Amino acid sequence: MTSHSDFLVLGSGIAALRAALALAGRGQVCILTKGEPEQGSTGWAQGGIAVAMGDDDSPRLHFEDTLAAGDGLCEPNAVRALVEEGPTYVSELLDWGARFDRHADGRPAPTREAAHSVRRVLHAEDATGREISRVLHGQVAALPAITIIDHAIVTELLCEGGRCVGAAFRDANDERHVVRAGSTLLATGGAGQVFAQTTNPTVTTGDGMAMAFEVGAEVADLEFVQFHPTVLDVPGRPRFLLSEALRGEGARLLNAAGEAFMAGYEAAAELAPRDRVARAIVRERQRTGAPVYLSLAHLPDLDVHGRFPQISEACREAGLDLARDPVPVSPAVHYVMGGVVTDLDGRTSVPGLYAAGEVACTGVHGANRLASNSLLEGLVFGARAGAMMGEAPRSRSPWGPGRLVACDPVVPGPPMTAPADLDVPTVRARAWRDLGLVRTPEGLHEADAWFSRARAACVHGPVDTLAAAQLRSLVTVAYLMSRAALRREESRGGHYRTDFPERHDETWGHHCSDVLQRTAD
Ligand code: FAD
Ligand code: SIN
Repeated sequence: MTSHSDFLVLGSGIAALRAALALAGRGQVCILTKGEPEQGSTGWAQGGIAVAMGDDDSPRLHFEDTLAAGDGLCEPNAVRALVEEGPTYVSELLDWGARFDRHADGRPAPTREAAHSVRRVLHAEDATGREISRVLHGQVAALPAITIIDHAIVTELLCEGGRCVGAAFRDANDERHVVRAGSTLLATGGAGQVFAQTTNPTVTTGDGMAMAFEVGAEVADLEFVQFHPTVLDVPGRPRFLLSEALRGEGARLLNAAGEAFMAGYEAAAELAPRDRVARAIVRERQRTGAPVYLSLAHLPDLDVHGRFPQISEACREAGLDLARDPVPVSPAVHYVMGGVVTDLDGRTSVPGLYAAGEVACTGVHGANRLASNSLLEGLVFGARAGAMMGEAPRSRSPWGPGRLVACDPVVPGPPMTAPADLDVPTVRARAWRDLGLVRTPEGLHEADAWFSRARAACVHGPVDTLAAAQLRSLVTVAYLMSRAALRREESRGGHYRTDFPERHDETWGHHCSDVLQRTAD
């Protein structure tokens, strides 16, 4: 069945909803979303939303912290848009009724997270994403111009004459439908599910990145994968995130002997950028041959259960008291800095196709995202993309000179026989093993060879079932990650190689992009 809408929005997280709100006065907006409307990383966000609104803060300071965490690869114009426009969009959330934690006198009570020089993270206990989602869904529900179709898994972007004209999706009965639209926004989130160990929800399979790549959109920075340092590591329990806000409020990382070890690795100890804390945990585990723990037992004045109710409950279910017990933690994949290349108004390299949120790559996060900048990114760049989609088409504004270097196009090769063990668990296990926190040359070569072959089998195979479409997304993103990781012969942010452990600005101080060589539409 084919239907039409003025605007098509794929996904229902923060970027999608904020874009839809910007578009609602311009025409009919159709939102397609994979599962329930609240499913996605947005609803799971814990720590908060970073925004320079405090008296001791400024967009300039937020800008500097973001650049420092990004390890030399943040795009300054994108960061400027984020930090300067952020306060306006967060004020709007407050006007719409967002209930963030406040001091007794009514002033906002921001928390601190790693690599922020001041307390600037607004939060709703430890369930900030749920609160933001509630507010945005409330705004969307009041606008008849916006329709949400849930349990609609988009499997293909449709292009005619090089322009995106809509998308095809499969419903809960696996039936195919088409929605044609004047412009289409990808807001399908990240790709944590490519890896066996992740904080991300099940819907986060990199579909948007894979589908955009298949229709010729430029993608970049996929070697930069963020590992969250502290995820609950109890056998048989979900890999539940233990928010960075815990360390912001003073939680310490201890080894099995009960020693606080972080200061031995990083001057900023527990509050060093995420990539550095995650690698320090791995090194300490290797050094001691024993687990690492997060502990709040030395903070008797902190109302741990009141401030972190959701995390307390997850620990309680694992038989642990967050306020008193050392909680075993290890890193897991959390966020992908790379994605579909856009300018600051969400325009991709394919006319008619826009992207915003975690699926997009504006260069705002560089090689390593600063904590709690992602919700802000979804708000600011979702609103910007929505505003641009509602205007008459204009040409894209390019990135700064020399900042984004196009690599040789990916040539669509001949069909290949699939590796015998090609299935979703194997893809995820291989990505975790070979594209993980510490990358070796052997692992990268093996990943590149295996995922190239898997992709060559998948892209030529049918995608007429949901299972085939999902496998193809995972394989395509893993293939692009391995290609990018093998190419970048240095270490920086979320990309660490044992054979090139240093950062090399002269050779690698730019972003690299990939594009599929296309023969015909
Ligand atoms: P999402 O919110 O992930 O939404 C993607 C949407 O696309 C979903 O609705 C999904 O169902 C849909 N979708 C995906 N594929 C398809 C398809 N094929 N067809 C149709 N629909 C599709 N960031 C912060 O700034 N602060 C935090 O405190 C924080 N905490 C986090 C905690 C956790 C546990 C996790 C996982 C992430 C956290 N992050 C945090 C990161 C942040 O939540 C995400 O990066 C951000 O919410 C992404 O928003 P989005 O709109 O781009 O995507
Ligand atoms: C967290 O609460 O630690 C997650 C914050 C983020 O991903 O920015």
